[in-house]
Amino acid sequence: DSMHNVRKITEDLYWVGGDEHRLHLFENVHPIARGVSYNSYLLLDKKTVLFDTVDWAIGRQFIENIKHVLKDRKLDYMVINHMEPDHAAMIQEVVMHYPEVRIISSEKAFYFMNQFGFHIDPEKCETVVEGDTKSFGKHKILFVAAPMVHWPEAIDLTNGVLFSADAFGSFGALDGKLFNDEVNFDRDWINDARRYYTNIVGKYGPHVQALLKKAGGIDIKMICPLHGPVWRNDFEYLLDKYNRWSKYIPEEKGVMIVYASMYGNTENAASVLARKLVEKGMTNVHMYDVSKVHVSELIAETFRYSHIVFASVTYNLGIYPPMHNYLMDMKALNVQKRTVAVVENGSWACKVGSLMVQALEEMKDMNILNEKVTLTSSMTEDNHIEMDSLVDAILDSMKDK
Ligand code: FEO
Repeated sequence: DSMHNVRKITEDLYWVGGDEHRLHLFENVHPIARGVSYNSYLLLDKKTVLFDTVDWAIGRQFIENIKHVLKDRKLDYMVINHMEPDHAAMIQEVVMHYPEVRIISSEKAFYFMNQFGFHIDPEKCETVVEGDTKSFGKHKILFVAAPMVHWPEAIDLTNGVLFSADAFGSFGALDGKLFNDEVNFDRDWINDARRYYTNIVGKYGPHVQALLKKAGGIDIKMICPLHGPVWRNDFEYLLDKYNRWSKYIPEEKGVMIVYASMYGNTENAASVLARKLVEKGMTNVHMYDVSKVHVSELIAETFRYSHIVFASVTYNLGIYPPMHNYLMDMKALNVQKRTVAVVENGSWACKVGSLMVQALEEMKDMNILNEKVTLTSSMTEDNHIEMDSLVDAILDSMKDK
């Protein structure tokens, strides 16, 4: 019984979650080289309250953490903010260890609980709706609904602690640290936080905006998400990022060149484009081999930069499959408000340019530049001239108008 590994957050609130380092793909899709944490929080008031559980993978650790913090007290309540199994998997185990526990959640979440096969005695369930409050002794908790964005939320009105579910979370294991001021977030975490947000809830920008406004009216002193560091200061930094991402406003003026190249010729065109941009003063240029860089990273970078150039070879008279996958993911995640251009290549029939433009036209508020470069297998001197026009068009579109 000595596996416990907990952190104290306030005098009566504890982090009882844990890290997962062995999982390679989050949701079986997104690579997590730095692991991920599953956060769960335990409040020791007159009543004891657990906020969310964790993934199966760290179940044993989790139960030991709870037992260590509760000592010989019983668990009175469990608040379930989010029903995805990375947080809800341990609900039934908690009930087995603490049979008297009552579960507080929304009607929808109870419905999902059933759907996932957790059949909790209805006598133990307490349904809350948006705006409900509940006191556990000293602490009064307000419940806020947030459909679609993985964030039904609970706010501790007594000390301004926001239990934000997936909101303000990040990939990356905590490795002993817990608070945002114990890590160098802007150096070590922001890329994973951006990749987490954009790929998991990037699609729901307007919902996120609505929530930011709702939370704006409450004096928040601490944000406790279900993944990644707990925030206790520097909120402006985090809110500015969330505000940009949810409004699809780029963080930086810069060009990402995503290229699909079979034998290196399209890659060569991408390199020439990058060099020409740099020579004309635009040094914030980044190249990505679409076959090598995971699409979740491409999506995160897409939310970051203002300009994207798609350079692709024609494949089976269509778009090269990994490039197609990236474009489809962009559309699914509602990417908008970018300036874009295409570079196409084809040895027999060059189709890919018009197909990529078509895909981009289906996205919102895309400024598609007319300047296009068409390669027939490899770069020619004419292509260099086309490329110069494209560079000028990109730089011109960057001027503040
Ligand atoms: Fe971390 Fe939406 O689950």
